[in-house]
Amino acid sequence: MKKTKFAIIGNPISHSLSPIMHNYWFKKYKINAEYELLEIDKSEIQNVIKKIKSKEIRGINVTLPYKNFIIPFLTKTINDANETHSVNTVMLDDNNNLIGENTDVFGFQAAYLKSIPNQANKKKVLILGAGGVAPSIILALLKSNIHDISLSNRTFEKSLFLKKKFKNLNVVKWNDCSKDINKFDIVINATSLGLNSNDKFTNDFSNFKKTLVYIDTIYNPAETKMIKYFKSNKIKTFNGLNMFIYQGQKAFYLWNKINPEVDDELLELLESKLN
Ligand code: ATR
Repeated sequence: MKKTKFAIIGNPISHSLSPIMHNYWFKKYKINAEYELLEIDKSEIQNVIKKIKSKEIRGINVTLPYKNFIIPFLTKTINDANETHSVNTVMLDDNNNLIGENTDVFGFQAAYLKSIPNQANKKKVLILGAGGVAPSIILALLKSNIHDISLSNRTFEKSLFLKKKFKNLNVVKWNDCSKDINKFDIVINATSLGLNSNDKFTNDFSNFKKTLVYIDTIYNPAETKMIKYFKSNKIKTFNGLNMFIYQGQKAFYLWNKINPEVDDELLELLESKLN
């Protein structure tokens, strides 16, 4: 019997571990399906959409730089995708409507917010970056009752764009991050800086609180320069692997109505593929 097809679209995409994770779950739950990487240009999105409508592809994940770009091609967005204008999971409903959902918000909540020590709602958070993943992180924090959220982005105007959507966001000038970092309990890297292992922030972050928790949304490489820096200073750090896994768990559920287990074998498999 022909395998049902799933895919992730983005560009660049070669670093993605989504096929390894979803194919592991398909095997585990004996689902006759396969999941592949589609590195495509903007002009090819229409073609992928056609394939979902004709059921040649059953569902897709969407990653940078298309999380927002894909929205006009869909019938509608729902839930967290509505609030963030960021879609990472697409599926067809029973009436052949193309539905866009966002599972990054759940991914972030499930991965980290339970590990933040007591009284998470009193924590002051600084998000670095205003790109594709930033609105999902803001919404995840708000849903977890964390309201003291600041954001800083190299290109200032992009932070203001997010402030239009999230009115209570505090915007910090990029050049003020160094002196202001000691005000924050949690710092989250939502930039793409770190994807290449030589990438380095030019900001000086040495003025951090001793109790800081540092979260990097990047999972490959497993340790960005920032993670290495904070770890060597005895700061609690998390990379993006758990967020990646839990966004995938929810996407898998939406497509297959099975909530797949995050077991040790999967963790070992994913960790073995990281740089
Ligand atoms: P997009 O900005 O097209 O949505 P993205 O990968 O989602 O793409 O976002 C990249 C993020 O990383 C942005 O916040 C970007 O900052 P700018 O808006 O100023 O471009 C940030 N970023 C990328 N390279 C950076 C660098 N060298 N220093 C600081 N921030 C960087």
